[in-house]
Amino acid sequence: MTPQVEPLDSDFLQDPYAVYRRLRQRGPVHRVEIWGGVPAWLVTRYAEARELLADPRLAKDHLRAERLFPPGFAGGARSGWNANMLHTDPPDHTRLRRLVNKAFAARAVQHLRPRIEQVTDELLDTLDPTGPVDLIQSFALPLPIRIIGLLLGVPESDHERFTEWSEPFIDSRASFRRGSAERELAEYLPRLLAAKRANPEPDLLSELAAASADGDRLTEAELLTMTFLLILAGYETTVNLIGNGAHALLTNPARLAELQARPELLPAAVEEFLRIASPVNIATTRFTTEPVRIGEVEIPAGEFVLIGLLAANHDEVQFTGPDELDFTRAVNAHLAFGHGIHYCVGAPLARLEGEVALGRLLARFPGIALDADAPTPGRRQSTLMHGLTALPVRLTAA
Ligand code: HEM
Repeated sequence: MTPQVEPLDSDFLQDPYAVYRRLRQRGPVHRVEIWGGVPAWLVTRYAEARELLADPRLAKDHLRAERLFPPGFAGGARSGWNANMLHTDPPDHTRLRRLVNKAFAARAVQHLRPRIEQVTDELLDTLDPTGPVDLIQSFALPLPIRIIGLLLGVPESDHERFTEWSEPFIDSRASFRRGSAERELAEYLPRLLAAKRANPEPDLLSELAAASADGDRLTEAELLTMTFLLILAGYETTVNLIGNGAHALLTNPARLAELQARPELLPAAVEEFLRIASPVNIATTRFTTEPVRIGEVEIPAGEFVLIGLLAANHDEVQFTGPDELDFTRAVNAHLAFGHGIHYCVGAPLARLEGEVALGRLLARFPGIALDADAPTPGRRQSTLMHGLTALPVRLTAA
């Protein structure tokens, strides 16, 4: 029997939670179409999602994946930029990931805390405490890209340009601007890398430049795609953590008051924001290298599979009261950062940014509330990611 194709249409974009509730009840895996008509399978239950994220029969290899697109389909033909760790399998994946593992380890990332606090405070200084403020545009968006710039070692004087070039990556509707931004970044980064090679500094680009000087470890092309990946993977995701987290708090006054009374709950609160409003929805594409059976369904070899992280993180079999925001869950083994060999390398940095951003925001503006005069915040029109286009707030009571 041919399974029914589930449309990921406007209902899904409006309220993915309701669609997922229905799909989880019906089964662990469903037929969908992505990228405007490419057939794929969507996994919606926690147990199967966790297992499949770590299943070596599901591969990433971008070159093989691109051969699966229908004839004439242009959407996936970006092999140049996709030759990165997120789109490769072992042994290339292992080699590429090893080069950045150390820089992103929790202890290394903690050294960035004072700089992250400083950048956060500088941004908070720019907010108008008397007027309406869009928290996405003026806070959640600029913070992560400045931190990625710091981590990579983009000089202070280039931060503004670097932010401008990176911005189109966040919004699929700005894809017409993406081409020229990509070109500018592709011209800028090799120059910056040459400078780092000549004068190494204590930053990630200097480290990667040294690894590429030793061609066995990293080619020049890999180095550039690695840098692009870090910008792409670390930007919109963290914007969504800050934006979705602030939104979850502002729409749950009891939890907001609880967090303000007990700031030590902040790390648990960040985990709960990651679970309840997971920044990555289904951007987890893999393909089957052999037939894979999931319950009643057999997925043939050579088909795309998406692991529904947001769906899995609301599975009532795994989480008690999955739609409730609860900072005191005894166990919160959410899948917001994935699982298995591709588990997010930036997770310690993202957690730290989430904690600092939301902690400092609440400490500075304890009276913050949704702007009652503004329209309800809209979701980004993306099936793959989960975030808001705007979050209008008042920082202080009128
Ligand atoms: C991988 C989520 C922030 C860099 C992933 C994956 C997820 C994820 C779900 C795995 C995708 C898959 O298995 O297909 C998130 C979330 C973030 C975040 C929710 C913020 C809240 C960051 C940051 C960086 C980063 C700040 C770095 C600056 C990466 C990289 C990978 C990755 C390089 C690929 C790892 C691999 O393939 O081994 N992320 N991410 N992420 N993330 Fe993140």
